[in-house]
Amino acid sequence: MKALNAALIGHGYWGKNLLRNLKESMFVDQIHVADSNPKVIAQLNATERSIHTTTSADELLRSEDIDVVFIATPGSLHFEMAQQALSSGKHVFVEKPVVTRSVEAERLLDMAKKSGLTIVVDHTFLYNEAVQKIKELISANRFGKLNYIDCTRINLGIYQQDVNVMWDLAAHDISMINYWTNELPITVRAVGKVNKRHEVLDLAYIFLTYSSGLFVQINCSWASPVKIRKTIIGGSERMIIYDDVEPTEKLKIYDYRNVENDKSNPKKLLVDYRLGDVTIPKLSLTEPLKAAVTDFFESIIEKRSPLSNIQTGIDVVKILECADLSLQENGKPIALR
Ligand SMILES: NC(=O)c1ccc[n+]([C@@H]2O[C@H](COP(=O)([O-])OP(=O)(O)OC[C@H]3O[C@@H](n4cnc5c(N)ncnc54)[C@H](O)[C@@H]3O)[C@@H](O)[C@H]2O)c1
Repeated sequence: MKALNAALIGHGYWGKNLLRNLKESMFVDQIHVADSNPKVIAQLNATERSIHTTTSADELLRSEDIDVVFIATPGSLHFEMAQQALSSGKHVFVEKPVVTRSVEAERLLDMAKKSGLTIVVDHTFLYNEAVQKIKELISANRFGKLNYIDCTRINLGIYQQDVNVMWDLAAHDISMINYWTNELPITVRAVGKVNKRHEVLDLAYIFLTYSSGLFVQINCSWASPVKIRKTIIGGSERMIIYDDVEPTEKLKIYDYRNVENDKSNPKKLLVDYRLGDVTIPKLSLTEPLKAAVTDFFESIIEKRSPLSNIQTGIDVVKILECADLSLQENGKPIALR
């Protein structure tokens, strides 16, 4: 297949990472970038001579020379742009959250099905080696029965203009949990705090319950003095700590099969820090975004569904909608439909 012409819409924080990957991709011929901020375009023009730039997203979305569109604008703009790209026959790679209302995501799914075009929703963590390793271990039943998942994703800012902290940060955890468990929650509950200065929810706790008995807690915040990215998964046979801030030892697996509870000494378990062996799997450190971009192009060529497909995006958005509703109702459990 000939290399494709790509348009990137939005050259902000994440768009810059996408552009770097597009420049390195063997699947891409010409690159076009649109950003509505003229200063962003001027800076880009000063360093990138071979890239066609414009302040008009519309111009690229309508252009017949473009085959694929990468959307890295704020979430509230994704639907219009993705819809326009699909209508003019372009494959779409759209940032998370795919859109801000599940009905819009369903509409995109419908359009992609009818046109045979590909949509990747960039839930980048699904392409992370540590996340893949956990999926492999869960699928091979290495944890036994899953009892709980506890996620912490907190840092200072960056405040998004159009979505709250759950849509920005917890979206990552929800995408991973859906992927790992292959199961959707039955109820969603959320409590949080609105920051008066920024007038946006910047701290939240989300609780998910499952028919299997699994219980999930997600803490997300833009108001933390430190950056923490930690997930603990507790199973009946093993537990795992996934620390994404760790440069190399991201996963630690704690084994407590065959550990006899010493009934003659009930205090022993309380003073033992470790119950069994701890193993640290070796992971190759490929950039997850590079893998996501490659999956997008390969899915187009092979006419197959990508790993992070539109249904993945819809499932995340539906859970976030329930979390918003629960917040408005002071933490009432909301049934996921
Ligand atoms: N996958 C990930 O891990 C990840 C990480 C960070 C951000 N994101 C997502 O990427 C998206 C962008 O986030 P960001 O942090 O880069 O935001 P940002 O504000 O840094 O960048 C957005 C850019 O879009 C441009 N823009 C706004 N409206 C536009 C329009 N109508 N036409 C053309 N350009 C327009 C802005 O000028 C800006 O340069 C969000 O959906 C966010 O959730 C994903």
